[in-house]
Amino acid sequence: MTSLNNIVVLTGSGISAESGMATFRDKDGVWAKYDYREVATPEGFAANPALVHEFYNARRRALFSIKPNAAHIALAELETGLARRGGRLTLITQNVDDLHERGGSKNILHMHGELLKAECASCGAIVPCRDDLSVESVCATCNRAGGMRPHVVWFSEIPRHMEEAADAIMTADLFVSIGTSGSVYPAAGFVAEARALGVPAMELNLEPSENAHLFTDARYGQATKVTPQWVDEVLAVS
Ligand code: APR
Repeated sequence: MTSLNNIVVLTGSGISAESGMATFRDKDGVWAKYDYREVATPEGFAANPALVHEFYNARRRALFSIKPNAAHIALAELETGLARRGGRLTLITQNVDDLHERGGSKNILHMHGELLKAECASCGAIVPCRDDLSVESVCATCNRAGGMRPHVVWFSEIPRHMEEAADAIMTADLFVSIGTSGSVYPAAGFVAEARALGVPAMELNLEPSENAHLFTDARYGQATKVTPQWVDEVLAVS
């Protein structure tokens, strides 16, 4: 394996599955239990904010009883190992949990936002949020009530950090996708961007994703198995 120094990793809910976080489209996933139009769209929030707050309050509360797994920790080791040899890991995650942070990763682009933050529609502030939100929640910045929402990107909203993601893919030696079904854009389009630039692309997933055919390499299995194995190989080559 040639020495890889600049790597871009995209993660999805599959990397957090073995920590106990439900994925979205597996048979017992989140969207098998909830209609995404009711709980993950601006229209759903406008129609029934209490339902949306309860949906995210339950997912936020669940975070406090789960831990990062070997895949999260391996990616943190990769970030440190690449930096040590003058390289860089750019970790782009679709996940809104904080398991990458708690696993030790530092340079993380949360393109779909973060459960442990809230934003105020009145003043635009983005603030830490570890407690339940409700329609009565008061903004700690402008002291106005009623405008707080989860700092999560809903369907039809614009994902965050897209320029940084594109820049990182432009200069990558390798693009790796871990634990995502490849069904939601723009994240699902990153592999095509990488390939159009001649950047090799590898998929680490439980099973082939919707865009498996676009990858130049793939390893299938549980993230806690295939991710540490791959990281060890990358760091073994100096
Ligand atoms: N190890 C590796 N991969 C796994 C594991 C595991 N233990 N368990 C499940 N997977 C894989 C599944 O095979 C599937 O391909 O993870 C993927 C999860 O896909 P989705 O449930 O569609 O989740 P994700 O791709 O993250 O969804 C993307 O959709 O609803 C939106 O905003 C939401 O960020 C989310 C986006």
